[in-house]
Amino acid sequence: MRNYLFIILCVAMVASCSTSHKKYHIGVSQCSEDIWRDKQNYELKMGAYFYDNVDLSFATAYDSDERQVQQIDSLVAKGIDLLIVAPNQMATVTPAIDRAYDKGIPVIVFERKTNSQKFTAYIGADNYEMGRLMGEYIASRLGGKGRVMEVMGLKGSSPAIERHKGFSDAITQYPGITLVATLQGDWTEQSAYNVVKQYDGDLSDIQFIFGQNDRMAMGARKAILEQHANARTLFCGIDGLPGENGGIRLVRDSLLDASYIYPTHGDQLIKLAVDILDGASYQKETNLMSALVTHENANVLLMQNEEVMRQAHYLDQLNDKASAYLRQLSYQRVISFLALGFVILLLVLAATVFLYNRQRQRLSKERLKMERARLDFFTQVSHELRTPLTLIEGPLAELAETSDIKHAEANTSRLFDIVRRNTRQLTHLISQMLDAQVGKQPFEVIREQADALTVSETTTPKTDIAAAADLVPTPEDAPTLLIVDDNADIRTYLHAILQSRYEVVLASDGRQGLELARRVVPDLIVSDVMMPVMNGLEFCQRVKEDFVTSHIPVILLTARALSQHQVEGYKSGADAYITKPFSPELLLVRIDNLLASRHLLKNLWEREPQRDVTPTPVDDQPVASEVRVENEKENPFITRFKSVVESHLADSNISVEILGQEMGLSRVQLYRKVKALTGCSPVDMMRKARLAEARRLLNDTDLTVSEIAYRVGFTSPSYFSKCYKDEYGKVPGEARK
Ligand code: FRU
Repeated sequence: MRNYLFIILCVAMVASCSTSHKKYHIGVSQCSEDIWRDKQNYELKMGAYFYDNVDLSFATAYDSDERQVQQIDSLVAKGIDLLIVAPNQMATVTPAIDRAYDKGIPVIVFERKTNSQKFTAYIGADNYEMGRLMGEYIASRLGGKGRVMEVMGLKGSSPAIERHKGFSDAITQYPGITLVATLQGDWTEQSAYNVVKQYDGDLSDIQFIFGQNDRMAMGARKAILEQHANARTLFCGIDGLPGENGGIRLVRDSLLDASYIYPTHGDQLIKLAVDILDGASYQKETNLMSALVTHENANVLLMQNEEVMRQAHYLDQLNDKASAYLRQLSYQRVISFLALGFVILLLVLAATVFLYNRQRQRLSKERLKMERARLDFFTQVSHELRTPLTLIEGPLAELAETSDIKHAEANTSRLFDIVRRNTRQLTHLISQMLDAQVGKQPFEVIREQADALTVSETTTPKTDIAAAADLVPTPEDAPTLLIVDDNADIRTYLHAILQSRYEVVLASDGRQGLELARRVVPDLIVSDVMMPVMNGLEFCQRVKEDFVTSHIPVILLTARALSQHQVEGYKSGADAYITKPFSPELLLVRIDNLLASRHLLKNLWEREPQRDVTPTPVDDQPVASEVRVENEKENPFITRFKSVVESHLADSNISVEILGQEMGLSRVQLYRKVKALTGCSPVDMMRKARLAEARRLLNDTDLTVSEIAYRVGFTSPSYFSKCYKDEYGKVPGEARK
């Protein structure tokens, strides 16, 4: 389970990252911190927004070479993919840049140069040209004549050197222009203020001061105005930034006379960096375009620049929103993948459980099949053994009671005992062997159910059955028994046991048995189970389904001794199940009980139909199988019979044949079925019905006794009165009072 989770997490993470390409980590090393650098850093950040794989790390050296060297080294150590650097001073910072380059890290030098060739690309404006143009501008503003001062940027920084060179090259073209002094600043306002303030020459007639940037121009202005409040000196610088203290505003507000836009172009820097990293073609040296800011164009430039800044700010906000959405999206994607993973996991689990269960079911089916085959085999064997054993045990029991054996010599008697004892022992061993072979497990449940229905009937014969075996003629109205068994010896043996008490009819298989049962309508059937043509279970079931025979109790007599066999027997509708070898006495008692339990519906025409409950069943036999509390409402035959009889009450000539015809039965079938269910003949039942109706008429009407007698089918009122008295103990006249 934990492995599954791990795999799903990995898949989700890979899937969520799969769309982005390799991340580029770019280090930016700035020499100083000022509004020009701020603008540029902002543009770098904005430029990076165009690439979803660019990470920027900024470092600012605050005009310290030493700090910048350290910062470059630590960026390299962090594992940046590319270095963008504006070196504070060329000589001191160059070695750190070279080290980075030597490590294979591409280096873009921007705006300020190094003094080595170890860089990948350079991007910046042309500082010499800027210095030269400012020189030209001043010369033209002064009409080629005047005193000029220059304040330089940080010593050793390339723009300072180049701007100075351009400036002096331009100035020297004008003999009327005198460069009074070149003072050394460090790009800060304060540095210019200081150097101008400390200048020991005459400042009063200086017409123009060129600060190499706007901040220094403003520092110089401050120093001049402090000394000569009315000085008419003009100032110009470089940078031309928009914004609060930017050069464009200073020119517009006439604090500076001119400035020169020193382009920041951070976005362009990022593009160059990504091109290098992507292996795309790029320009080794890029000179950024620039422009002069004067009082004439300051306003327009300011408006344009500030609009650009506003748009950039707006873009920045949009980007923040987009990033937030993207973060949410990727979070949702991870969740979706996790959910999908879980669904797949659940499906896999469900399939596994399903397959496992199916396999288990298949195995257990196969096991059951094998068990059944084994069981069938042993059942067959035991059947083969139990049948002859029955035919040994039974006759032995009978012989034991004969006077020959009772008075036999001690030796004969002992031998006889040995035979009996060993027969019993053999029966016992066969039962044990069968139990052990079949094993209890698969059948435990069935056996429990069966145990609730029956008790073991494998007791061996112990008592006197001689009376049954005597050849006594069958009494006239003895009940009829049908014996169904394919074994001729068993049939003979059963016949011998039963013939003294019952009329016995014999059949050798289920089909023959069924024919006889329909024809004879016996009072009880004793049937074997394992028989050719039609086995005992099917036979029993069909007996119970047939309208003519359904009421007949069936005893299954079989070698199939296991509980589940008994359950099968009872399920087929059997009323009792006796295993071979059986006790003849037990069989007789069982037959008697079943016969006794049938006479239930004598008083079919009593107001409250009387329910004769059978005598208490023998032993603890299950009540359900033997106590036959019939309710005519539930017995379709009785319902039918009642309605046919009641429709003929007034008919004095009605015969049993006609009643039978109306019920679809022969005279014999009707007679035997009615007799079996009620204990009375159909004629008796007809008379009971007539008398019951008469009693009702006596109670409910004013008809005379004679009228009532004719109405219920009697031809003579005196015979009616006699029958009425026999039935109810009173003559009809008394009954009416
Ligand atoms: C910004 C700055 C600018 C100047 C440039 C020279 O840090 O001082 O004012 O033009 O650097 O590198």
